[in-house]
Amino acid sequence: MSVVILYGTETGNGELVADAIADVLAADHDPSIYDMSEFSVDDLDPADFLVVVCSTYGEGELPSGAEPFAEELDDVQPDLTGVRFAVFGLGDRVYGETFNRGGEIMAEKLTARGAQQVGEHGRHDNSSAVKPAGQATEWARSIAAVVEPVNAS
Ligand SMILES: Cc1cc2nc3c(=O)[nH]c(=O)nc-3n(C[C@H](O)[C@H](O)[C@H](O)COP(=O)(O)O)c2cc1C
Repeated sequence: MSVVILYGTETGNGELVADAIADVLAADHDPSIYDMSEFSVDDLDPADFLVVVCSTYGEGELPSGAEPFAEELDDVQPDLTGVRFAVFGLGDRVYGETFNRGGEIMAEKLTARGAQQVGEHGRHDNSSAVKPAGQATEWARSIAAVVEPVNAS
């Protein structure tokens, strides 16, 4: 199954993470990467597996790059039954209760429309010594193991 990676970012960490995930999935999952701000709800296809990468801004809010897509989900209210997705969120523990809310908000919006979240929900902590792309690489390996390869019959 092909993988569509959507990233929502404010300052670029999410894009680095999306690239790292694509590198892992390139072997078997024909990944494509889109900035969420340039992706439309109409482009969602249940034949693809969706990977959502999203940081957190403000006080537990979405980064500006994710807002247009999130608003379109609320406005259009598409039926996403049959769409499967996984989430890798970015945040920082110094923000306490709002840690990694951005990725969680996207998961809630997709689930509310009937899509199904699979795999571990990744949560990067920018206060940790772990680099976002390094953690995302490990996470992507776990996702690659649960999504059927492109050429599986
Ligand atoms: C002004 C500001 C507000 C932030 N608010 C939160 C927050 O509420 N919760 C959280 O977990 N991280 C928060 N963060 C941390 C970012 O999500 C984190 O640095 C992330 O790696 C940024 O990824 P990006 O470059 O893809 O946007 C905030 C960062 C900034 C600069």
